[in-house]
Amino acid sequence: MSELNKIALKIISNGKGILAADESNGTMTKRLEAVNVLSTPENRLLFRETILSSESMKECIGGVILYDETIKQTTSFAKSIPELISSSGAVTGIKVDTGAKNLANSNEEKITEGLDGLRERLKKYYMLGARFTKWRAVYSISEKYPSKLAINCNAHALARYAATVQECRMVPIVEPEVLMDGDHSADTCFRKTSEVIKKCFDELILHKVDLTGIILKPNMILAGNQSKYKISNEEVSQKTLQCLKESVPNEVPGIAFLSGGQSEIEATENLNLISKNNKTKFIMTYSYGRALQQSALKVWSKNIKDIKATQNTFNHRAKMCTLAAQGKWSQELESK
Ligand code: 13P
Repeated sequence: MSELNKIALKIISNGKGILAADESNGTMTKRLEAVNVLSTPENRLLFRETILSSESMKECIGGVILYDETIKQTTSFAKSIPELISSSGAVTGIKVDTGAKNLANSNEEKITEGLDGLRERLKKYYMLGARFTKWRAVYSISEKYPSKLAINCNAHALARYAATVQECRMVPIVEPEVLMDGDHSADTCFRKTSEVIKKCFDELILHKVDLTGIILKPNMILAGNQSKYKISNEEVSQKTLQCLKESVPNEVPGIAFLSGGQSEIEATENLNLISKNNKTKFIMTYSYGRALQQSALKVWSKNIKDIKATQNTFNHRAKMCTLAAQGKWSQELESK
């Protein structure tokens, strides 16, 4: 087993999942302002150290993705954030792209940037304790989109990123996110997601990326959030599994879904059915941002000193997601 494969498996085995706490300062400011908390470095740290000190970190969370500001911060109890993460047995990860920018000649679409100087930044993150990374490409669905141009150049960037990360002895999370915004059907989401993922793997293979040492972070197959044609959770799970079975090479050890704007319960229920129905050899788990932290953030915002209440809320969500990753979640356990 390669070193990278071992790290990947440590992050996602035994029902453990990934906490995506890598909101950029811009995104975190939006999240904090929405609950009437001032977005300062101190408040961003306080929320994150509260979450990362929760009991469920030990049994549920295999890896945490951080943003540049957070990986360099020290907690109020004098531990660095990467030390706090490893003290619960989880692996520290870091978002290394520098954001999605307008794509020239297809201005309504995005290209994710961050390749310049990447190798040097990776070396610094490794020294700070990071052992895995994230890069997110984003695609929207409409009649014309995603265009071949967006599909090709984002796949190319993801592959160059993944190859450079592996060279620096870290596991790249490869995240091609097809957004749920729009009125498209689940079948359209299926077709476009398949095309996007297949192109990513063409490029990863061309760039000689070791597929046993990556984690794929895809969207689930859903109808658009404005669509008239909703499908059942069971259909979401069947379509998602079929799409991944057809487009992901067998060497990939695991798939960790993003929540992408689904509610906490939706994201949990869909993952539960995916895991229950999973006949592939891929480990299936979660890499949620909003679907793990939304309720905890609301509770925290009511009294940022009430650590227990925030942690209880996070613990419940993390436990439900970990049950779902094993196909053992139920509505009954949810409401207990
Ligand atoms: P959400 O689960 O909130 O979609 O965030 C996951 C993520 O890391 C997006 O890049």
